[in-house]
Amino acid sequence: RQGPVYRSSTTAPVNIAVIKYWGKRDATLNLPTNSSLSVTLSQASLRTHTTASCSAHYAAHEGDSLLLNGSAEPIQHSPRTQACLGQLRSLRSSLEASDPSLPKLSGLPLHIVSTNNFPTAAGLASSAAGFAALVRSIADLYALPQSATELSRIARQGSGSACRSLMGGYVAWRAGSAADGSDSLADEVAPPAHWPQMRALVLVVSAAKKHLPSTAGMQVTVKTSSLFPTRADVVVPRRMQNMEQAIRARDFDAFARLTMQDSNGFHAVCLDSWPPIAYLNDVSRAAVRVVEAINQQSTDAGAGLLAAYTFDAGPNAVVYYLERDTERVAGVFRALLGNERVEGWEGSYGQDIKPAEMEE
Ligand code: PMV
Repeated sequence: RQGPVYRSSTTAPVNIAVIKYWGKRDATLNLPTNSSLSVTLSQASLRTHTTASCSAHYAAHEGDSLLLNGSAEPIQHSPRTQACLGQLRSLRSSLEASDPSLPKLSGLPLHIVSTNNFPTAAGLASSAAGFAALVRSIADLYALPQSATELSRIARQGSGSACRSLMGGYVAWRAGSAADGSDSLADEVAPPAHWPQMRALVLVVSAAKKHLPSTAGMQVTVKTSSLFPTRADVVVPRRMQNMEQAIRARDFDAFARLTMQDSNGFHAVCLDSWPPIAYLNDVSRAAVRVVEAINQQSTDAGAGLLAAYTFDAGPNAVVYYLERDTERVAGVFRALLGNERVEGWEGSYGQDIKPAEMEE
């Protein structure tokens, strides 16, 4: 069969939440029980690169395919990937209906090739960057006019946190209240240039794929944790407001306190679940103690907090700090890692990561 190959490539960065998404009110549409807020990290260190292509040359019987880090993923059996592909196709098909001169791409099989420059599924938010890059590359291939916020509705259905990786800087995912998820969208609270001194240090405690997947964990927490309703209904809505205020005011002391409180609150509802979910290990707790020691020195001297730890659904630590405190935060961790005084570290990724600028 004749015809060109249409192709588009993009990269999407990882985002690390400072107010955590934990709990689904609708598991099919990935609608959250609470809003969340994250910092999108620079693409230099943690990102997914994705190329989407389609062509009449591609064998129709083989259908759509996804190669992730060199291995074929069974996307035919992934309702989440299918939801994203189906919605992107239907937007393209409406475009084609309104402009008959456009090539009919919506009917062609898609080949998607994706690579991460960091360990997949190690609690480093690979699914967030992965689904954001998938949605963005196909939206570009299809020349869709939808904004990043509109595309966040689609990426959300791949992986909830993916909706926050379509924007750079400081990004909120508003839980919304509509049953169809039409108002459960991400928006940019502040661009990276608003607070460019922000840095993150990612400490890889374990790159192994062994933690409980987030969807399964969330369901157990929502069903069994007695602390959970207070977190979702009372604590997080207030914290979202305070966090947005801290970001607007570039108040690192408040940002750091809220970040650590929310990470601890999230891990507390995990431990309060039955069976209990424990994502942190002894090495994670050692990282907490290092951050506490750094902050103690600073507060003893009458200054504010210098560092904030946060942990997702795994043992790896992300530590936020400001550029001016690089030596006092990243320097301390570097010295500890370099001297191998903390057993169990597998290394660090993207030290001194800045908030991302998104390419248009
Ligand atoms: O997007 P998911 O389903 O992988 O869930 C992510 C959940 C956390 O990373 C623990 C929190 C968050 O808001 O990113």
